[in-house]
Amino acid sequence: FGLQRRIDAYLGEYLFQKSKIKERFPDISFSRSSSSSSLATDEGLFEHPEPLASSKAVMEKILWRRSLQLCDQQRAWQDSPEGRKMLEFRKSLPAYKEKDAILKAISQSQVVIISGETGCGKTTQIPHFILESEIESVRGASCSIICTQPRRISAMSVSERVASERGEKLGECVGYKVRLEGIKGRDTHLLFCTTGILLRRLLVDRNLKGITHVIVDEIHERGMNEDFLLIVLKDLLPRRPELRLILMSATLDAELFSSYFGGAPILRIPGFTYPVRTQFLENILEMTGYRLTLYNQIDDYGQDRVWRISKQAPRKRKSQIASAVEEALRSADFKEYSPQTRESLSCWNPDCIGFNLIECLLCDICENERPGSVLVFMTGWDDISSLKDKLLSHPILGDPGRVSLLTCHGSMASSEQRLIFDEPKDGVRKIVLATNIAETSITINDVVFVLDCGKAKETSYDALNNTPCLLPSWISKVSAQQRRGRAGRVQPGECYHLYPRCVYEAFAEYQLPEILRTPLQSLCLQIKSLQLGSISEFLSRALQSPELLAVQNAIEYLKIIGALDKNENLTVLGQYLTMLPMEPKLGKMLILGAIFNCLDPILTVVAGLSVRDPFLTPMDKKELAEAAKSQFSNDYSDHLALVRAYEGWKDAERDFAGYDYCWKNFLSMQSMKAIDSLRREFFSLLKDAGLVDSNAITCNAWSHEEHLIRAVICYGLYPGISSVVHNEKSFSLKTMEDGQVLLYSNSVNARESKIPYPWLVFNEKIKVNAVFLRDSTAVSDSVLLLFGGSISKGDIDGHLKMLGGYLEFFMKPAIAEMYQSLRRELD
Ligand code: CDP
Ligand code: MG
Repeated sequence: FGLQRRIDAYLGEYLFQKSKIKERFPDISFSRSSSSSSLATDEGLFEHPEPLASSKAVMEKILWRRSLQLCDQQRAWQDSPEGRKMLEFRKSLPAYKEKDAILKAISQSQVVIISGETGCGKTTQIPHFILESEIESVRGASCSIICTQPRRISAMSVSERVASERGEKLGECVGYKVRLEGIKGRDTHLLFCTTGILLRRLLVDRNLKGITHVIVDEIHERGMNEDFLLIVLKDLLPRRPELRLILMSATLDAELFSSYFGGAPILRIPGFTYPVRTQFLENILEMTGYRLTLYNQIDDYGQDRVWRISKQAPRKRKSQIASAVEEALRSADFKEYSPQTRESLSCWNPDCIGFNLIECLLCDICENERPGSVLVFMTGWDDISSLKDKLLSHPILGDPGRVSLLTCHGSMASSEQRLIFDEPKDGVRKIVLATNIAETSITINDVVFVLDCGKAKETSYDALNNTPCLLPSWISKVSAQQRRGRAGRVQPGECYHLYPRCVYEAFAEYQLPEILRTPLQSLCLQIKSLQLGSISEFLSRALQSPELLAVQNAIEYLKIIGALDKNENLTVLGQYLTMLPMEPKLGKMLILGAIFNCLDPILTVVAGLSVRDPFLTPMDKKELAEAAKSQFSNDYSDHLALVRAYEGWKDAERDFAGYDYCWKNFLSMQSMKAIDSLRREFFSLLKDAGLVDSNAITCNAWSHEEHLIRAVICYGLYPGISSVVHNEKSFSLKTMEDGQVLLYSNSVNARESKIPYPWLVFNEKIKVNAVFLRDSTAVSDSVLLLFGGSISKGDIDGHLKMLGGYLEFFMKPAIAEMYQSLRRELD
């Protein structure tokens, strides 16, 4: 308890000092780095010139003069030859035809909803219209338009595009801001940012002072941040009657948003797309001489509907595809699957036919089809990168003289991004492997062929068992239509869905909004830090409210980890967690790593938990890969194994042997690099929160103490804890909620027959058919007792009761006794 008090006192002291200094010197900013990458919460989105001693009249005069300047600049550009050419292009977009109607609607009502086909010009044109018209009416210098994007990559690419439409460099009138990056200047009046950035701005400026227009883009995606932002903005509108809110969406459902905002007007931009010929799997197979049939079969479990593929007389032309199918038939699982219900759809695994079929279709398109780019929708980043590797070794598809093979996904570097918009050289076919990001956020202009694998990575959440799941799942009908539509933007196109039509028929109409399918812990913290009152009351005002049980689970979790006190108020720890934009448990680990001066390994652990698993397990080399991983561990911890793997990689990198090192040890080079950059990012976040100074030596004074690191990991991951129950030959694991649980086979602990510790803390449990634990670290009784949970000052007793509950449940006599004696002491 002395330890816990010290942690609380340590954190409390920081906040106290900060607030004292702030009281005396209100102008001081606590962001230590002055670069644009600063993440301090008190940083503004726009920097308006506000001369300290100026009177209102002087101020107005300055603004007026600058507005006139802006107006002159804009006119000069519009009259220049390049400007005219650009305007010509803009006028060809469907959104331009609605320009006057849109501006009129915005001037007449506070909230306007605009929907239109992807690519019609919503994202680039509508913010630009508003900016242009404000500048025309000599209000340019006093307008501040914010347009939020769900993804970094679209905020960056769109701002660049709009700046070039205005003949400007990025950072003049138009800028962008995403986490840890941004380009904006004193004269920036239109800012594209991620939704998260605007939410952070609301932390320090609840009324969005000085901002004239907020545009929320891609609301049809129903991301958690967007849904949350809408509740906050809905509350804000009456307080800021002159503020304008514009909601933009790609597909239908505009009525839902309109009625949420009291019948706000809806503008529909009529779109045009060329017809797209659609082929489902059976049509593709038919071209090759195979037939896909559905028939009823009686099996042990009763009647079931089963797919069979039978061979007809093969046709000549698409012989490559035929051989791909044959190849796939040799592999397991494809011949039979049952598409009866949405659940049983998951039995059908397109991956076993997927890669070969995609390769052959692409090859066929390259050899036999008319010119036009190809867009392939894949499940996630891992699929994209393995497919890319496969295609690069293909004689045609891997030949850069014939094919330009590109990828498009959310975490892409900006230099890589630009390539996907570029037109390929003559005779070269552009093939883009993309995630669902290319469905609506990003428009690649010259696409004629679309391949759709039908799946996307989706987070879901099982509130009943309080278990999050991240699994590839079937997309919705609306998404499938969007994907198809990408083929018909410039001329009639072709779309190949790599699944049968009846599977498509069983897709859900829309995807469930994120707020209904993910754990709500971070969201609840945000609600508290924005001082929005009771969490459940606030969330009941959402467009679609999450289940009460999910809300209660999240609140309960935050109480257990000590971020909220028993009255649901933010604790000191909670206040710090809101400054760290990551899962609370990871933030908690970082904070303690900083306090205990063992930051370096903890940075690696937290970064490693935020990226795709760096330990690769290729299907055909599973044993070898698992053995490679276990050589990094001799102490029952996946997290420590990662720390060692990373350190080894870092050493190898210094000798330019990083790639070999990864290859030899089955590590993903990409994940290693991602960990490297996240570590830097997290370090600067901690600096901004005032938890470390830049002296790397002090904050690593204890980094070699593995017991301490284990304890810090436990502090973060609690209550993710399972008890180790030994039997004669091996051990089993139990958690309080799920009973028996299993370890993922690539965990180092899964290879052990005995674990000389009584507990495993884990980062994540995932329900597939049984409940599996991913990444675990073994800890001792005393570590659990001291570092399990957070004892807020007023509630030591409550904490002990809960911990006691665990102990009783698992009947650990030694530790239960310790606990009893602690309680006696407390009494
Ligand atoms: O938002 P919406 O899907 O309605 O369309 P948009 O993103 O505003 O794109 C409209 C058009 O601008 C696209 O069809 C592209 O022709 C062009 N554009 C571009 O050339 N480069 C970009 N980075 C973004 C858009
Ligand atoms: Mg858009």
